[in-house]
Amino acid sequence: SLSIPARGLSGQVYKGAVFWDTEMFMVDYFLHACPEVAKTLIRYRIDTLDGARAKAKEYGYQGAFYAWESQEGGLDACSNYNIVDVFTKRPMRTYFRDKQVHVSAAVVYAMKKYRDATGDDTLLAAGGAETIIECARFYRSLLLRRVDSPYYEIHDVVGPDEYHERVNNNAYTNKMAQFVFGAAAKAIAWLRAHAPDEYARLDAEIGLAGLDQEFETLRAQMYVPQPNEQGVIEQFDGYFGLEDVSVDEVRSRLLDPKEYWGGAYGVASDTQVLKQADVVAMLSMFHNDYDEQTLKTNWEYYEPRTEHGSSLSACMYSLLACYTGNPAAAYPLFLKSAAVDLGEPGKLWLGLIYIGGTHPASAGGAWIVAVNGFAGIAETENGLVCNPHLPAHWKEMRFPLTYRGEKYRVTVTQQGGKIEKC
Ligand code: IFM
Repeated sequence: SLSIPARGLSGQVYKGAVFWDTEMFMVDYFLHACPEVAKTLIRYRIDTLDGARAKAKEYGYQGAFYAWESQEGGLDACSNYNIVDVFTKRPMRTYFRDKQVHVSAAVVYAMKKYRDATGDDTLLAAGGAETIIECARFYRSLLLRRVDSPYYEIHDVVGPDEYHERVNNNAYTNKMAQFVFGAAAKAIAWLRAHAPDEYARLDAEIGLAGLDQEFETLRAQMYVPQPNEQGVIEQFDGYFGLEDVSVDEVRSRLLDPKEYWGGAYGVASDTQVLKQADVVAMLSMFHNDYDEQTLKTNWEYYEPRTEHGSSLSACMYSLLACYTGNPAAAYPLFLKSAAVDLGEPGKLWLGLIYIGGTHPASAGGAWIVAVNGFAGIAETENGLVCNPHLPAHWKEMRFPLTYRGEKYRVTVTQQGGKIEKC
């Protein structure tokens, strides 16, 4: 199976490699427009499970550590020195390859989205459950626990915000690991009930006895940073202690416009300025786990501190703004995401590395904002519902949607929305 590279068929630097962009931002459109393509995208990760296992082993971990830049067979194309410093012209040590452990969770998250949107379980018995279990085994092997604490932590990672490297307890990463433990416990129970041959095969290879209870315990005991007294969730341990300056102030400190903002001595590294949605990405994805005030407070805290230096950022902020009933704040960020390949191309240089090309994940993110944000389409136990937050100057939205094998037509106006079976 094939997937879609982060720059589509354009751009050289990412070498046609597949990133978490596909699972987090692109797959949603295909799930609801052509689910067979979504299935192929998911299968790509199942087919490359051995590559992810090899990467985990390389670093001394168990399970599946999916590549930051996935190539044939799931090999990670990312080098340890993937940015060239503008001053010394030397490759800089970066930690994209070895510390962005959140990619494995994105693979599991996409599988859940696939199952929810299509109702199709067939992938689970065809390597899907194995992939989920292997991702959970990977996170289990990353866990640390202080002698006096019942909670598990994850240290030394790079979260979605790549400007802050090697941080402890990145809220996004820990929450995703918790999600994966829950998904893996369910996958094992599903195999036991519905696919005994596959269960027996994996039991012989990995040992499944008691593993679902163990994953359930890890899920319950995973440390996920919670809102502080002001209602803000700290992006990682010590983030609030970093210099609190504006994005413009950080930009003004650049000595060269192409200078890399992160890394060992980047202008943003010791400040609270972040590259892209991190806590806000977590809150958009798990918005049902938080009250509306927490969503709002964190949006307001993090948005002014975000450079939006990645094309994956604006759509997450836009989506969360919709979830807090603020389409006016969502709209410019939606446009930024939707128009990235039509107008201002966004950031083109990371150090002396040119990162231009098309941005399919940004387009996918704009689709998510339009459908789940503005039109307010959500999946519930009773099927699709529509709770729109249209921008004030939009009169009507109309679009087709495939859900669980049925085709629907959605019409949304300022007065409300309706979902009709075709
Ligand atoms: O996957 C992204 C990453 O999150 C930010 N830098 C660019 C990558 C490819 O789009």
